[in-house]
Amino acid sequence: MRIAVLRETAARERRVALAPATVDRLIKQKHQVVVQEGAGVQAFFPDKLYQDSGASIAPTVAAVTAGADLIAKVQPPTIDEAAALPPGAVLVSLMAPHASGSLLDALAKGGVTALALELVPRTTKAQSMDILSSQATIAGYQAVLLGAHRMGRLMPMLTTAAGTLTPAKAFIIGAGVAGLQAIATARRLGAVVSAFDVRPVVKEQVQSLGASFVEAEAKAEGAGGYAKELSTDQQQLVLAAIAKHIKDMDLVIATAAIPGKPAPRLITNEMVESMRPGSVIVDVAAETGGNCEATVAGEERSVGGVTVIGPLNLASTIPNHASFMFSRNIQSLLDHGVKDGAFQANMDDPIIGPMCVTHGGAVRYGRTQ
Ligand code: NAI
Repeated sequence: MRIAVLRETAARERRVALAPATVDRLIKQKHQVVVQEGAGVQAFFPDKLYQDSGASIAPTVAAVTAGADLIAKVQPPTIDEAAALPPGAVLVSLMAPHASGSLLDALAKGGVTALALELVPRTTKAQSMDILSSQATIAGYQAVLLGAHRMGRLMPMLTTAAGTLTPAKAFIIGAGVAGLQAIATARRLGAVVSAFDVRPVVKEQVQSLGASFVEAEAKAEGAGGYAKELSTDQQQLVLAAIAKHIKDMDLVIATAAIPGKPAPRLITNEMVESMRPGSVIVDVAAETGGNCEATVAGEERSVGGVTVIGPLNLASTIPNHASFMFSRNIQSLLDHGVKDGAFQANMDDPIIGPMCVTHGGAVRYGRTQ
């Protein structure tokens, strides 16, 4: 196969879809790899590393994609990039399929088979291909560092000649992949950590990481192990439990999400006002509307001395390791899908079928959900 790696052009995107280590492996498997000039530079993978792995470098989208069988990218392609893809090629990238109607139409019209990486099934077999998990791990870690950097206090307890400092209190809301990593990171930095989630199964995971679980008498476990929206009564119980707990916190990392829905609103302005000046809220859910009423996506603001941060694309701010993991996820997908040297776009495959948003000249998204 001829595999093309495109340079990212979206704002704030520093990752690259394939790292040199994966290219090395693909070349050993007798594939050809063409990388767009500078594609890995922002992730600290210079062109030379790709060349040393056996890839060739090409300057433009057209030159990289000419004759390509498979194109790897992080963010969805632009309509112009989509138009440059050869008919019959397989595109593997994030696709934001719910918001990309015209892109999907263009890809289908161009005869491209597009696999949306956010639709990898959350199953044990597909775990090594799960970009949502790998990138959420990075986001959870980075959210804590970002918060620690902005806090007016240290995280660990210190006993010094200049007095004893008590440890920071960190509260993690939403203990999925990002939240669990945030718990582990805050613990490593020495904070006293508590967490809350509406899925009861999470309590044990939270406690096994050394954090305490905040109880709210509300449960909302939906299909596939995901959370579902809370009823009004349950939402009131959750808000009351968070309001009681949050006022004493130095750092809050909010990661609560419901697939395909806006982020649940869990931190009201009143709760923010109840917190001490110098404390910090990092709202990892900012991209989908935020868990905190005071969040402005992409901004950092002070509300009565409480810093409220709404970061966007956190994973991309640690571009080298984020790309390494992204690349390994794609490598696993190729290990699964390539047979006899070519990618088999088998719609009956339990992993590839659900990921495929365009195939055979038609948009499949919607049919696969
Ligand atoms: P997510 O990003 O959709 O949500 C983050 C967290 O927010 C979840 O733990 C959810 O329960 C929680 N949440 C939702 N509404 C809330 C509310 N009102 N209050 C407090 N918390 C709330 O979830 P993520 O991290 O993508 O994974 C969630 C689950 O998906 C995992 O625990 C697991 O069951 C499943 N999963 C399975 C995988 C596999 O088998 N390959 C891989 C990753 C996840």
